[in-house]
Amino acid sequence: MRVTTSEIKGMKQRREKIPMLTAYDYVTAKMVDEAGVPLILVGDSLGMVMLGYDSTIQVSMEEMLHHTKAVVRGAKKALIIGDMPFMTYQVSISEALHNAGRFIQEGGAQAVKLEGGETVAGTVKRIIDCGIPVMGHIGLTPQSVYQLGGFKVQGKTPELAEKLLKDACILEEAGAFAVVLECVPAPLARLITQRVNIPTIGIGAGPDCDGQVQVVSDILGLYTDFVPKHAKQYAKLAEEIKAAVADYIAEVKSVSFPTVKQSYTMDESILDKLA
Ligand code: KIV
Repeated sequence: MRVTTSEIKGMKQRREKIPMLTAYDYVTAKMVDEAGVPLILVGDSLGMVMLGYDSTIQVSMEEMLHHTKAVVRGAKKALIIGDMPFMTYQVSISEALHNAGRFIQEGGAQAVKLEGGETVAGTVKRIIDCGIPVMGHIGLTPQSVYQLGGFKVQGKTPELAEKLLKDACILEEAGAFAVVLECVPAPLARLITQRVNIPTIGIGAGPDCDGQVQVVSDILGLYTDFVPKHAKQYAKLAEEIKAAVADYIAEVKSVSFPTVKQSYTMDESILDKLA
């Protein structure tokens, strides 16, 4: 059985921390799932770390669905959340419902995530009314990077801190099952976590959130174009991969690969006939 949103909410009640990671493909999703991560986000960060775009703005619904399907095939236990890309939920509620539905029906995800607080609360409520669980996302919302003036910590002034707290409460009221707090000062994230009954999942929001989410390519040291301050590298896979590829190149050039072990044999008398 897959993890459910009730189980995730129950983890907050039991004060059990909630680990969440992104995944974008079958192989990684399978490993992350087998390692025991209960929540997998098919984040639109895939635009940057998988597709090489310079922001998440360019990511399309079709790209998100393509990757969501691969993740669903790989992860059998975790609850899978599809990240709604830029302009797939802002134009109208009916478009938002249609696109959220596609994540569930075509992509096979069990929930969706969208960015914003009060401004998207009506949309969040309607999606939930249709039976689709929604995760909120406030603080640094990368789809609004041009309006925010860059990838910056949010909520540092009294007005902005109050707005973030209000947004979190409004998302809870709208029915969101959890809310991501991205790049929010740790003391403010702690306060929000105390004030709402739904789990807060932090990324660059300190240790007191109910859970933590990270971009899998960051924690594995796979994406090295930019390593955010909030990310910790638990491995340096880019370096390992480059070293492995360099070994391969050297062995092909020196004809030490392939050996008999990697080759297939046949009855050589057949060759005599051909000759
Ligand atoms: O797209 C993403 O990976 C995200 C997480 C950083 C929360 O939205």
